[in-house]
Amino acid sequence: MRIISTERSQVLAARVAEKLGVPLVETIFRRFPDGELYLKCGELDDETLIISSIVDNDMFVQTLLAIDAADRSMNTLVVPYLGYSRQDKRFSPGEPISARTIARALSTGVGRVYVINIHDRSVLRYFGVPSKEITIAPAVGSYVGDLRLKNPLVLAPDEGAIGLASEVAAVGGWDCDHLVKTRLSGEEVRIAPKTVDVAGRDVVIVDDIISTGGTLATAARMLRDQGANSIHAACVHGVLTSGAYTRLRAAGVSSVVSSDTCESASSLISAANAIATAIGEDAHH
Ligand code: R5P
Repeated sequence: MRIISTERSQVLAARVAEKLGVPLVETIFRRFPDGELYLKCGELDDETLIISSIVDNDMFVQTLLAIDAADRSMNTLVVPYLGYSRQDKRFSPGEPISARTIARALSTGVGRVYVINIHDRSVLRYFGVPSKEITIAPAVGSYVGDLRLKNPLVLAPDEGAIGLASEVAAVGGWDCDHLVKTRLSGEEVRIAPKTVDVAGRDVVIVDDIISTGGTLATAARMLRDQGANSIHAACVHGVLTSGAYTRLRAAGVSSVVSSDTCESASSLISAANAIATAIGEDAHH
């Protein structure tokens, strides 16, 4: 087996290669003058692991090109971050189910697909080949432990994130709750944990994706007003668009950390171990 990656998953792919003891194949990435993408993979084996986060449209095209370049081998696709997964339904008539569009396209030329902490598990059924979710909640939990907070409170910003937050909290046996938004008037909303009082507590907000940081910044301000001692944010996919990192720090969030499913300077958590373990286990079955 050999591993190839697209441009924005190079670090994670190298880490997985190291853990599996499998060679990483050099790939050349170029762009034609008209903006079209080009890539060329080095020599492949009869089995290829393609590691590619769909962090933007170019990476979607690069993923398709990489799969095609490996058309002579048996391919397994690892999509650490599956972009477009939040449009997982037709919210109003005339819209595409974008997660389905992407999943279908990625299913050609690969035998199976792994996705790290997918936004909604229902999206897995849109792949035309066997697909599986890998969770890195244990790695996020281990990071929370490294923060050395006294009796931290793990908070999910909404009901959708409760599953992830409770898996993270289970690592250290920490308290866990989720935020509830109550509308006080036309303009005013109150965001507070459903049951736990945050006064004097060190809070870690855990979400699958931080995109604009809007959800967390609003929550952080309100938690501060409610007397939280400190607020930290940890997520799996640090999309961090439109100044999200600054927005969160300016809202009083002491640390903002994500994993290497979206590679950036805030990627202090790695998905490599979880990926290598899942690939290793399935290879033995
Ligand atoms: C939404 O359902 C997700 O789990 C995240 O909470 C959301 O995508 C975060 O978006 P933003 O950072 O833009 O508020």
